[in-house]
Amino acid sequence: MVIVMGPEATSEDVASIVGVVRSAGVDAFVSKGVQRTIVGLVGDVTQLDAAGLRGMAGVRDVMRISSPYKLVSRENHPERSTVHVGGVPIGPGTVTLIAGPCAVETREQTLEAARMAQAAGATLLRGGAYKPRTSPYAFQGLGEQGLRILAEVREETGLPIVTEVVDAHDVPLVASYADMLQVGTRNAQNFGLLQAVGAAGRPVLLKRGMSATMEEWLMAAEYIAQRGNLDVVLCERGIRTFETATRNTLDVAAVPVAQRLSHLPVIVDPSHSGGRRDLVLPLSRAAIAAGADGIIIDVHPRPEQALCDGPQALVDTDLGELAQVMRDFPPLLGKAAA
Ligand code: E4P
Ligand code: PEP
Repeated sequence: MVIVMGPEATSEDVASIVGVVRSAGVDAFVSKGVQRTIVGLVGDVTQLDAAGLRGMAGVRDVMRISSPYKLVSRENHPERSTVHVGGVPIGPGTVTLIAGPCAVETREQTLEAARMAQAAGATLLRGGAYKPRTSPYAFQGLGEQGLRILAEVREETGLPIVTEVVDAHDVPLVASYADMLQVGTRNAQNFGLLQAVGAAGRPVLLKRGMSATMEEWLMAAEYIAQRGNLDVVLCERGIRTFETATRNTLDVAAVPVAQRLSHLPVIVDPSHSGGRRDLVLPLSRAAIAAGADGIIIDVHPRPEQALCDGPQALVDTDLGELAQVMRDFPPLLGKAAA
């Protein structure tokens, strides 16, 4: 961290900064220039309050040199990580397809959607038993009954399950069925939930908050990692922008940026980004071309009857093209479909 003093700063101002910093156990080196004085901090600055320092007399700016997230940062872990979910890798060298219904509605629908996912090359099954809905009157998911259906479908298809948990109290229950716990965009900064999934002993799929900066997203991942769980996969799912032609705006640059800043795998959700069936395949291609370690896609056997997000679900006739994307695109980047 570097503190830049303003031209009006007195030697007393500099001395009080140095005093505050040293009392926090951090060393401070003062460099006096012609116009400006700079105080360089060396040591563990995590306990220092940058905003508090910025408010001290004579301070012009406070700049962090190293990232505020430690465990998920690539600074301390240069090799990119692979997370295994029920034996399926998500990480560098592979592109993993996760697919399934947005919501678990019935056993038949979930099994049909799982078969569709498998036909397209999916190795992991997605499906929500607890749905985070904007309206309290919208379908909220089947709860534990939905988890039981997912477990039965896993038994029949062999596909490990990725499913969302929306409440910290439900984490032990959901973790007892799931192979991977999903934290959705609406809960991406629910710190109690992040800590609970961090302690659940299952890999975590962390969606990016719809208005979260890269740093906020990685700090959310740090909450999970701090509880001893480094099996975290980041998922870019579109952000809120001024554009209304799509449900969200896929921030495709988030893939290489997050991969540069963090060692965690990064996947993309083209379904929730575009919010429209016709955009899912083009956005999938864009995601893989940008280096995504996987994609997560909604499929539904009868989307016109879906209880959640039907318009963005791929149907039977789309599966051939999705399978082709999964077959042809990863090798162009020197990767294999996982
Ligand atoms: C995801 O599956 C969410 O539950 C869903 O996209 C929320 O949609 P809503 O905002 O229309 O409830
Ligand atoms: C989902 O994938 O079911 C979901 C709720 O997505 P998001 O949190 O990205 O809206």
